[in-house]
Amino acid sequence: MNRERWSSNLGFVLVAGGAAAGLGNIWKFPYIVAENGGGAFVIVYLLCIAMVGLPILFAEFSLGRLGDSNLLDSIRSLARQHKASDKWNAIAWLGLMAVFLVLSVYSVVGGWSLAFLYAAAVEGFGTDGAQSPADFGKAFKALASNPTRSAVWCTLFMIPTISIVAGGIRTGIERVSKLLMPLLMAMLATLIVYGAVATGEIANTFKFLFSPDFEKLTATSVLEALGHAFFTLSVGVGAMLAFGSYLPKNINLFRATLTIVGLDTLIALAAGLAIFPVMLANSVEPTTGPGLVFVTLPIVFSEMAEGQLIGSFFFLLLAAAALTSSPSMLEPIVGTIEDKTSLSRKKTAWLVGSAIWLVAMLQILSMSGQGFGEIFGTNLFDITNYALTSLFLPLGGLLFALFAGWVIPEVLSGASLGPVHPGAFWALRLLLRFAAPTGVAIILVTGVVL
Ligand code: TRP
Repeated sequence: MNRERWSSNLGFVLVAGGAAAGLGNIWKFPYIVAENGGGAFVIVYLLCIAMVGLPILFAEFSLGRLGDSNLLDSIRSLARQHKASDKWNAIAWLGLMAVFLVLSVYSVVGGWSLAFLYAAAVEGFGTDGAQSPADFGKAFKALASNPTRSAVWCTLFMIPTISIVAGGIRTGIERVSKLLMPLLMAMLATLIVYGAVATGEIANTFKFLFSPDFEKLTATSVLEALGHAFFTLSVGVGAMLAFGSYLPKNINLFRATLTIVGLDTLIALAAGLAIFPVMLANSVEPTTGPGLVFVTLPIVFSEMAEGQLIGSFFFLLLAAAALTSSPSMLEPIVGTIEDKTSLSRKKTAWLVGSAIWLVAMLQILSMSGQGFGEIFGTNLFDITNYALTSLFLPLGGLLFALFAGWVIPEVLSGASLGPVHPGAFWALRLLLRFAAPTGVAIILVTGVVL
């Protein structure tokens, strides 16, 4: 079988790093840090990344490379080779369903970032000071609850996402990540330097991000940190397995995994370092939840002399980050259907993409406040988000850890890991077989009980 491959180690790192670094890093990470009190939450988050996220990410890559096929067939053939139950196929089905749902909510927020990019570039958030802070809150609500506007922007986000996947592994996904990732890092670095120089608040930002106050930490914060560790690394749903299946044999997988985790963590922390100084300088409390980036930042931009430029720059960054992540949710489904049917990659991408787009439209309608898709006092969009990060991603991660750690011994073999220090080998083995599953299990159970 002639399966396509990433062109190089760098290509793979940029693709997987791009899939990891997205709205989760730039939109969500700063606001959950703020909501959960800063430093202490950051420490718990970093622990979850290192002890749970990293081993599972490695496991997904490795299973993909060993399975050497689409998500469904990789899991099926690996289980058969090891005379394990066909029930393990459930991981693949769960994953396919989860990536579908992730993209149906991700594309909505991706659309909002395009809407704000447009608003920033064209209108500049009324830099003339004509708008009050309350107006910005209303403006975001108006966008989120206006199905037509949200739908248009969501569609404009889905079109490039589908086109990238339709374009193929090297000529679509890898090419776009190679272009956008360096751009993204350069834009982030520029914003950090700007914030540090223009506001003088960088020291306070460091204090906020890195000095822990454990009193502020609750059991829910720990659950949130774990869920976010899965989300930000894109693990638990087989998206990274699908990318691993295009790995050439000669790549040192352990080192590549470390680089990708490092990149993702760096980009999340960098987003904090870029965002918080401008907020602290304008004495806006960074505690506004999901509206942090869409409400609080525009307030700040509207008060800055260079607000239009910096604002456009920021939302360009956000949209670029989202567009290197969204293809990773479409690829597992498209790759599977492409293999299983006679449909071309292009047709499959547009068909699957349209189905996801339809569900995204339902997500959007559920936020219109007109009763559609509202259940138990909340809406479909919030329920999907919650179910994914608190349930499906950790559950999928748990199953991947068990499957890779206990059923498929090659995952932890030298051939899969590459040349690695014996200490690192044992640490990874311990994490994958014991620490990650136990940690996730405890947290899943308390999450359900709480
Ligand atoms: N990690 C991405 C982010 O931080 C989101 C993402 C991409 C994702 N692919 C995924 C999340 C698969 C869950 C599953 O924005």
